[in-house]
Amino acid sequence: MRIQQHRRYLMCRPEHFTVSYRINPWMEPTRPTDTDRALSQWQALYDTYLDLGHEVELIDPVQGLPDMVYTANGGFIVDGRALGVKFRVDERRGEEQPFMDWFDAHGFEVVRPDAVQEGEGDFLLVGDTILGGSGFRSSTESHREIGEVFERDVVTLTLVDPRFYHLDTAIAVLDPVEGPGGVERANIAYLPSAFDAASRRVLEERYPDAVLVSDDDGAVFGLNAASDGLNVFHSPRATGFAAQLRERGYNAVAVDLSELLLGGGGIKCCTLELRGRA
Ligand code: ARG
Repeated sequence: MRIQQHRRYLMCRPEHFTVSYRINPWMEPTRPTDTDRALSQWQALYDTYLDLGHEVELIDPVQGLPDMVYTANGGFIVDGRALGVKFRVDERRGEEQPFMDWFDAHGFEVVRPDAVQEGEGDFLLVGDTILGGSGFRSSTESHREIGEVFERDVVTLTLVDPRFYHLDTAIAVLDPVEGPGGVERANIAYLPSAFDAASRRVLEERYPDAVLVSDDDGAVFGLNAASDGLNVFHSPRATGFAAQLRERGYNAVAVDLSELLLGGGGIKCCTLELRGRA
């Protein structure tokens, strides 16, 4: 039986969403975007979380920072401590301070990073281990730094396909939480072809029971999913992944963020988890 865990998320309304530059292969600045459509799709995700009893905090969008809707890149938070980010891409560096200011104003202990990394886009907490992505955005030095900041093991994984440039586009954490007796269930879903051979071996060894997702489902951003341990929020286009989830006893909840995919982001990108003090 799957048990729903309570989540507290940070989201940002895509009021200024557009695609005016290209920092990943999904972005095509000459193709028009529809901000109202982005807003209504985003609202559906927000409402879905609230309807299921989760808490969602909001950070004010900033004009001129169209990617701020992808709050997963704003930091990484465990035990009430928030590590800020240092973007690889200049276009998003203006987001660093507003996110750190928000964490500070909401009672989190803020740690300013030294190394280049893009927050929960490239760091995923699975049980008590942090999986760290590298290859496109976050540096491997940042993996060492985050391990020190949170006193947790960090497993470095190398991404090789430019379409899957952040770790959260290639791995979905299904059961992220520790129970009273330690990690009770911690499993993931992933897209094997997004990783180099060494990283694939690490994943096979650590997660023998993982959900292996097809290239077709990966190509529609199926892995960019959020989970509360029971409900897995995923793209409606990832039909094979949804079936795999149902077979495993999860509740597959489809939410369409196709407009936000024009910026190269999906459900998980728009969702930053705020993990408080235990
Ligand atoms: N346009 C954004 C970028 O390339 C999309 C970020 C997606 N976020 C994520 N967590 N994968 O930075």
